[in-house]
Amino acid sequence: MSELNKIALKILSNGKGILAADESTGTMTKRLEDINVPSTSENRLLFRESLFSSGGMKNSIGGVILYDETIKQTSNSNKTIPELISSSGAVPGIKVDTGAKVLAGSPEEKITEGLDGLRERLKEYFKLGARFTKWRCVFNISNKYPSKLSIDSNVHSLARYAMLVQECGMVPIVEPEVLMDGNHSAQDCFNKTSEVVKKCFEELMFHNIDLTGIILKPNMILAGASSDKKISSEETAKLTLKCLKESVPTDIPGVAFLSGGQTEIKATENLNLINKHNDTNFIMTYSYGRALQQSALKFWSKDIKNTQGTQKVFNHRANMCTLAAQGKWSAEIEKN
Ligand code: 13P
Repeated sequence: MSELNKIALKILSNGKGILAADESTGTMTKRLEDINVPSTSENRLLFRESLFSSGGMKNSIGGVILYDETIKQTSNSNKTIPELISSSGAVPGIKVDTGAKVLAGSPEEKITEGLDGLRERLKEYFKLGARFTKWRCVFNISNKYPSKLSIDSNVHSLARYAMLVQECGMVPIVEPEVLMDGNHSAQDCFNKTSEVVKKCFEELMFHNIDLTGIILKPNMILAGASSDKKISSEETAKLTLKCLKESVPTDIPGVAFLSGGQTEIKATENLNLINKHNDTNFIMTYSYGRALQQSALKFWSKDIKNTQGTQKVFNHRANMCTLAAQGKWSAEIEKN
């Protein structure tokens, strides 16, 4: 077993999942402004540290994705943030892309940037304690999109990123997100996600990536957010499994889904059904941002000094997601 494979399995095994706490300062500022909390670096740390030092970390969280600001911060207990995360048994990770920008040649689409100087930044993050990384690219669905140009250029960057990360001894999370925005059908989502994921693996293999040392972070198969033809969670689970079975080489250790704007409960229910029906050899778990943090953030905003209360809300959510990652969640357990 390679070192990279061991890291990936440590992050994903035993029902554990990933806490995506890597919102950029811009995104985090919007989230804090929405709840009327000033977006200072102290407040951003206060909320995040309350999650990273919660009891739920030990049983549920195998990895935490950080943003550049957070990986360099020191906790109240004087541990660095990566030390705090490692002390709970989780692996510290870092978002390394620098965001999705307008794609030259198809300005209604996006290209994710961040390759310039990446090899040097990776070395610095490794020294700070990171052992895995994330790069997210995004694709919109409409009758003409995603274009071949956007698919080809984004998966090329993803593969170059992944190879640089493995060269530096870290596990790359490969995240080709087909967005929920729009009124497309679930079948459109299935078709476009399949096309993107297949192309992504073609490119990863062309770049000689060790597939046993990556984590795929895909979207689930859903109808568009404004479509009136929503599908059931059962259908989402079945279509998501079909898509991944047809598009993903069997060598990868696991899949960690993004929540992508689903409610906390939907993201949990869908993951649970995916695991109930899972007939692949992949671990199927979560790498949620909003679906792990939303309730905790709302609770915290009422009294930002109430760390224990915030942790209780987060622990419950993390526990529910971890049950879902083992196909053991139910609506009854959720309520109790
Ligand atoms: P969401 O679960 O909120 O979609 O965030 C996950 C993530 O890391 C997106 O890149």
